Amino acid sequence: MSDPTRPAGPKIVAVANQKGGVGKTTTSINLAAALAEKGRKVLVVDLDPQGNASTGLGIEVDDRVLTTYELLLEDIDLNEAILPTAFENLSIIPATVDLSSADLELISNEKRSFLLHDALRQVQMDLFAFDYVLIDCPPSLNLLTVNAMIAAHSVLVPLQSEFFALEGLSQLMLTIREVRQSGNKELRIEGVVLTMYDQRNNLSLQVEQDARDYLGDLVFKTVIPRNVRVSEAPSFAMPVLNYDPASRGAKAYRDLASEFIRNNARQKVEA
Ligand SMILES: Nc1ncnc2c1ncn2[C@@H]1O[C@H](COP(=O)(O)OP(=O)(O)OP(=O)(O)O)[C@@H](O)[C@H]1O
Ligand SMILES: [Mg+2]
Repeated sequence: MSDPTRPAGPKIVAVANQKGGVGKTTTSINLAAALAEKGRKVLVVDLDPQGNASTGLGIEVDDRVLTTYELLLEDIDLNEAILPTAFENLSIIPATVDLSSADLELISNEKRSFLLHDALRQVQMDLFAFDYVLIDCPPSLNLLTVNAMIAAHSVLVPLQSEFFALEGLSQLMLTIREVRQSGNKELRIEGVVLTMYDQRNNLSLQVEQDARDYLGDLVFKTVIPRNVRVSEAPSFAMPVLNYDPASRGAKAYRDLASEFIRNNARQKVEA
């Protein structure tokens, strides 16, 4: 079933935060899986040389023949890079460690910031009829992340519920502003999602309070709890929704997907 709220082309969302280990990959994988479970066709683009999204969705390194590296740096067709996963409605463009040199290799390329944008707008994209594309960004504000932001309609920011969580957000917002000025005027903030939330911990409550005070409606109502099943799932090469469908983590990502779909339906009406 395609999403009736999105008639023309997929909605492209960059999942970004330059801080490491805040839940970017976990959110990319599990939000994608939850959207797919609700019948949306989803593509995950692994834009991190660590390749964690590829591993977490069960793509063996040997099967990563054409990857985001080739998509950006060599002239390959999009459909050659897109792999199905073992999960219905969920596809991926994988990444390998090769991508770690892309940042340098791209510097001399005149179109360096627009390569992912152009690749994702190849005509074959229509054949796949994706509703959503989620780009898992590396923990950096480098050229890869800029490519993701230029390619995207919006940025989704996972924020770990811990001390100093809000530090670094101003740097991220600055980059978003620069991208708006340099090639993607329409880039929106999809929302900030609190991850690894522990409601017994005052620090989590404080981070949530601060985030809601400073960012208001930009913060998703859904928070993602710290849940061991979420962290175990990647080693079984599956989203937590498949690994333990009844876990608190799976439920939270389903709620996030519902909220995300509702927000997107509203944005369409407003547009
Ligand atoms: N809700 C959660 N509950 C428990 N563990 C979690 C949760 N979310 C993420 N983790 C764990 O926290 C670690 C970091 O998460 P993740 O890899 O998603 O972050 P990241 O921002 O993608 O990291 P990087 O910046 O290295 O790409 C992982 O070990 C992951 O399994
Ligand atoms: Mg990651």
